[in-house]
Amino acid sequence: MDLTTKYLGMEIKNPLVPSASPLSRSIDMARELEDAGASAIIMWSLFEEAITAESESMVRFLHHQEIGFAEADDGFLPAYEDFAGGMERYLDNLRRLKETLDIPVIASLNGVTPGGWIEHGKELEQAGADALELNVYYVAGDINQSGSEVEERYLTLLTSLRQHIKIPINMKLSPSFSSVSHMVSRLETAGASGVALFNRFYQPDINIESMRLQPSLHPSTSAEALLAMRWIALLYGRTNISLGATGGVHTSEDAIKLLLAGADVVHLCSALLTRGTGYLKQILDGVADWMEEQGFESVNEFRGRVSALSIPNPAEFERANYVNVLDSYSFSPGVMV
Ligand SMILES: Cc1cc2nc3c(=O)[nH]c(=O)nc-3n(C[C@H](O)[C@H](O)[C@H](O)COP(=O)(O)O)c2cc1C
Repeated sequence: MDLTTKYLGMEIKNPLVPSASPLSRSIDMARELEDAGASAIIMWSLFEEAITAESESMVRFLHHQEIGFAEADDGFLPAYEDFAGGMERYLDNLRRLKETLDIPVIASLNGVTPGGWIEHGKELEQAGADALELNVYYVAGDINQSGSEVEERYLTLLTSLRQHIKIPINMKLSPSFSSVSHMVSRLETAGASGVALFNRFYQPDINIESMRLQPSLHPSTSAEALLAMRWIALLYGRTNISLGATGGVHTSEDAIKLLLAGADVVHLCSALLTRGTGYLKQILDGVADWMEEQGFESVNEFRGRVSALSIPNPAEFERANYVNVLDSYSFSPGVMV
């Protein structure tokens, strides 16, 4: 059975790719993922804030040293070696992943300003990254900022990186664009090799006792995969870049649906964090079993079969579906059907 798929210009052995998560921080866990069948791995992100904070503390530290800040001698400030750079650690992790694994390793940058990203991108390329994922985790909360300004932010970051590195760039996108499809098309023109749909925004919660914000991080559910499924189905056949489905893939059924919609790969995170690295094999076996039952010999035979290009009524992916669903709702007091 041929499970291979093309992703970011690479031929990979199947469509299951663990997305950015702490799992890749551990070389052992990354190896377990490869053993379970992962076809590539996306590293945890190098965060812009971490790099900025690090260089700021370095400046403060050197400044204190220069002026002979008294408390520095008493161990108030950390020793110079404690500032072993976050970037250096990341590069080291990348090199070790490359040495250990046979599958492609995709590095990940997470930030919102061009800043030092070009330098970082170059370093990641030189350290052997097979591709680079750019996660612009940007919450557009400024009432004076227009949608097109937000789009420009993504495009500027991509364009400047594209000019300086040769490896494929994958853009991890928010679902909050007025026109997701048009944005993908603009990114393709600007040199992206793929998109990951979608970034999951973590919503802060309010603690009603303390009346303060509290962080909330819940694992996703399969229902969330339907968001990416719709947009991938609408994009399939209309763009030449890779389509990665991110968010809510917990079972082989979820993965199959996304491939039927037209995804080149499906990303896994919460499912592996909650059920362990070996769970990837169960999802992979489930996909292979379903292919056998359906008589498919390769992923290419069924990928995109239920995309907007392939179904008789593509409007079902758009407004028609909404109207039908609301119409089919039957109401009896106190019961949601
Ligand atoms: C604990 C945790 C850490 C994550 N770290 C990153 C990260 O460093 N960079 C990134 O782009 N996404 C990160 N993500 C997001 C995931 O890669 C993924 O896009 C998201 O969880 C949705 O997929 P899922 O439903 O399979 O969990 C993280 C998610 C979790 C739960």
